[in-house]
Amino acid sequence: MAADILRIAHLHKHFGGLHALNDVSLVVREGEVLALLGDNGAGKSTLIKTISGVHRPDSGEIFVRDRQVTIRSARDAIELGIETIHQDTSLAPDLSIARNLFLGREPTHMSWLGVLAPMRRDEIAAAATQLLGRVGITKRLDAAAPVRMLSGGERQSIAISRAMQFAAKVIILDEPTNNLGVEETNGVLRFIREVRDAGHSVVLVTHNLHHVFQVADRAVVMRQGQIVAGFDIALSSMVEVEAAITGADVAELLAAGAAAQGGR
Ligand SMILES: Nc1ncnc2c1ncn2[C@@H]1O[C@H](COP(=O)(O)OP(=O)(O)OP(=O)(O)O)[C@@H](O)[C@H]1O
Ligand SMILES: [Mg+2]
Repeated sequence: MAADILRIAHLHKHFGGLHALNDVSLVVREGEVLALLGDNGAGKSTLIKTISGVHRPDSGEIFVRDRQVTIRSARDAIELGIETIHQDTSLAPDLSIARNLFLGREPTHMSWLGVLAPMRRDEIAAAATQLLGRVGITKRLDAAAPVRMLSGGERQSIAISRAMQFAAKVIILDEPTNNLGVEETNGVLRFIREVRDAGHSVVLVTHNLHHVFQVADRAVVMRQGQIVAGFDIALSSMVEVEAAITGADVAELLAAGAAAQGGR
């Protein structure tokens, strides 16, 4: 069995009186796609934000490759090999697409100027175009154009491209296909498989069970701040997973499905 790359143990997080994460434990294995599922407000983004340094947990432990870590900032997470695309993406609207793709890590000329060295604009533009192609952005976008010119879906794709290129050990995608067109969605799903096949791990937060059954190896379901179920996708049905998400009975869901198809 593949080794655990990330392990979370007994995480708790309160927002005032709300117990947003209630004793959450899970593992992410090397080279797997783990889907993180649950209804609106279940705590998925809160969990992701705790792993990626946006929130500090009230208690609990996080281990990266069996070493206990403290993640105080997004930078800490990135240094540990955890890249996150948040649900509300944080691009810099006035900077160009290319600059956003490489924000904070622009390739520079080897130079005695050190940190003041100029960005290699030609390199960045070429790399940006290549990346956009990989996530299925087929529309011709000028890498030099500011991000504020883009649609919501296009912005999302840029943010995903940003995480992809650094080939982090774990890439966390919080509803990455929201607002995306068919082409871009397929690009993202293809990317997720590619990353997994290259031995990296992906945590995918989504409400789309079809996507889960297309790309995920395992799924865990959250409800009211707790993990309530886990599935091996190859051995599970969509109905079972759906029931875990809503808390409905599998038999009820099957009956409702049969009724919808004319009672057979
Ligand atoms: N910064 C915050 N301050 C206070 N409450 C918060 C904060 N962030 C989230 N919450 C609350 O915590 C709960 C879990 O929210 P979270 O965003 O983690 O849900 P989610 O599973 O990601 O839902 P969705 O599918 O709608 O994105 C919700 O009740 C939400 O209102
Ligand atoms: Mg969310």
